[in-house]
Amino acid sequence: MKFVVIVALCCGFLWTLSNGFVVIKHLSKYEYETLGSNDAVAAADVTAILNQLAAADTNGAQSGDIVLDYQNQASHHEFSHDNAPNPLFKSVSSSLIGKPTYSALTSLLSQYTTPDSGADETLTNSKQTAVSAFLSSIASTSAYQTASTFLTSNNLVSGDLTTALTNLWFQPFARSGSVKGSSGFKSIFAGETSSGNVVGFNNWVQFYTLEKSSAVNYHGWFDRQKDVQISLQFAWGTNQAMLRNFLIGTSPEFEFLAYTICGLAGTPSGTSKTCAFTYQGYDITLTVNTITVNGSTFISTGTPSIGGGSSPVTSAPGGKTTTKKHGGSTDPALQTLVDKMWSIDADKAQPGDIVLDWGNKVSGSSDASPNPLFKSVNENLFNRPLYKELIAIYNDSLFVPQVCTAEAAMAGLRKAQLDNYLQLLSNTSVFQEAYKYLQTAGHGGANFADFYKNTLFPLWFGTYSRCKGALGSSGWEHVYSGEWKGEEVDGQHNWVRYYLLEKAGKINYHGYFSHENDLIGTFQYSWNSYLKKEGGFFISTSPAFDLAVLTTCVLAHSGGNACKFNVNGNYIVVTSYHQSCGAGTCLSTAYPSDH
Ligand SMILES: *[C@@H]1O[C@H](CO)[C@@H](O)[C@H](O)[C@H]1NC(C)=O
Ligand SMILES: *[C@@H]1O[C@H](CO)[C@@H](O)[C@H](O)[C@H]1NC(C)=O
Ligand SMILES: *[C@@H]1O[C@H](CO)[C@@H](O)[C@H](O)[C@H]1NC(C)=O
Repeated sequence: MKFVVIVALCCGFLWTLSNGFVVIKHLSKYEYETLGSNDAVAAADVTAILNQLAAADTNGAQSGDIVLDYQNQASHHEFSHDNAPNPLFKSVSSSLIGKPTYSALTSLLSQYTTPDSGADETLTNSKQTAVSAFLSSIASTSAYQTASTFLTSNNLVSGDLTTALTNLWFQPFARSGSVKGSSGFKSIFAGETSSGNVVGFNNWVQFYTLEKSSAVNYHGWFDRQKDVQISLQFAWGTNQAMLRNFLIGTSPEFEFLAYTICGLAGTPSGTSKTCAFTYQGYDITLTVNTITVNGSTFISTGTPSIGGGSSPVTSAPGGKTTTKKHGGSTDPALQTLVDKMWSIDADKAQPGDIVLDWGNKVSGSSDASPNPLFKSVNENLFNRPLYKELIAIYNDSLFVPQVCTAEAAMAGLRKAQLDNYLQLLSNTSVFQEAYKYLQTAGHGGANFADFYKNTLFPLWFGTYSRCKGALGSSGWEHVYSGEWKGEEVDGQHNWVRYYLLEKAGKINYHGYFSHENDLIGTFQYSWNSYLKKEGGFFISTSPAFDLAVLTTCVLAHSGGNACKFNVNGNYIVVTSYHQSCGAGTCLSTAYPSDH
């Protein structure tokens, strides 16, 4: 009996890796695959079992077990640029790495000492012993029971499972020539090289182990799903890993079983099988290649990639890379929107317009950085209407920073000036893109005029109290101006505001906690005598871009860290909240962060 499975593919690209070479193929929205009933498992069933294993991965890292130091992004062009002076792994808890399946994996990895594909990988006695110990440690986990039931009930393996897994993963085969120098385990877990390139290497435990002994040198990241998946660049001895992906914090049994299930039951795509699942809220795709030699099937290569099958990160040997940056986005449409807004924002600062001096890392509340954060800004930018009118609002002191002092009434000239500026911002092509997204998401009102009047204006300029009834606050004041409350700065999430205050000698920069290139950071400063313990904002973005992003987040994805996307390759998460107020719904806060 034959039947047809329709595979829905969201965004058009799928990739396959065969013998280390990458093929990117464009697929129509629906691809039809005809599969035999015996060897086909519905994609939804594969996703369900992988999600079940992911949710039950209690041997995976828990919060605090792994501390990473991402540092800067790597260079797609120049392998010689090491953009990360420190290791990726700052620490891994001994209670995690000491768990039985981790110990068994580490012992087995130590058997693989010759990464070159041309080095013989015959299963020697000592290797076979380590393989057996690894498989038996995995076999005692509940994940194994779950996976084993799935594999046998779907007729994906026959006979003894341990034997089947040994053949699938550890029996060496020759990718080319006659030396059997490759295996699925070598490629995915231990790492494999060919002609100076790393052609297989997808396991974090191995990376951590090699990094600890300085055998690999981390060059920076390209994309990531924070603490769960990274695509990165590193050197392994003299071998170049221009761009590789691995999961982080996943247990050995989870990875081993997930690749096994995917290799046997994933959705066929060219020479690969792909599978989608979710790990700790992130959409992940696995791609696994198997090869059949003389009737025996072996796992050949495999890799995770970011996104639900629609946004792979791929690399080809020789350094040509294709990255689609959809890492960890709340939804693909949001990422598409942000990418579009970034690319059409003619009012953002251009490279070189802003020079920053991040100074030193800060801890406690004392000044660790003698210099200002902004070394220089090309102020020609401020002749553009979007900046000129913003600065006029600052110059005219339309907002009083003291939260306990009531603001002047939203009326007359004050209201007209703010209303004009909000019209200017919301009439930009950047904001209009956000409006289209909000319409689709059901937040667009009857039309734009209705949206502006009943949603956008009240959201940003509706007043409310943060201090015993005094109507001293609004979303706009909190985000674009900043407030003083007690002894601290509340809000203040605009780079122009910060720069002007710093230049005027009113802000003293203390140092940073973290930053993503020069786009965003988390840092500390004092403004007059008020301390901003930990704050941040987008740097170089236009006021319209900020308005569009923050409005989109608060209306469609409000909550703590609830709005996630990448901006120009930088990981961003926006926290935003709204509250009811006299005007309807007011923005309480909205700010981006790099973590
Ligand atoms: C396949 O089997 C034939 C016959 O046993 C043998 O000559 C050949 O080397 C095998 N091929 C591989 C790639 O192992
Ligand atoms: C704002 O004030 C500064 C300092 O007084 C002045 O140089 C600048 O021209 C003013 N800009 C606007 C738009 O009012
Ligand atoms: C909005 O922009 C359009 C064209 O870009 C322009 O014709 C219109 O006058 C603008 N409206 C406002 C209120 O600025």
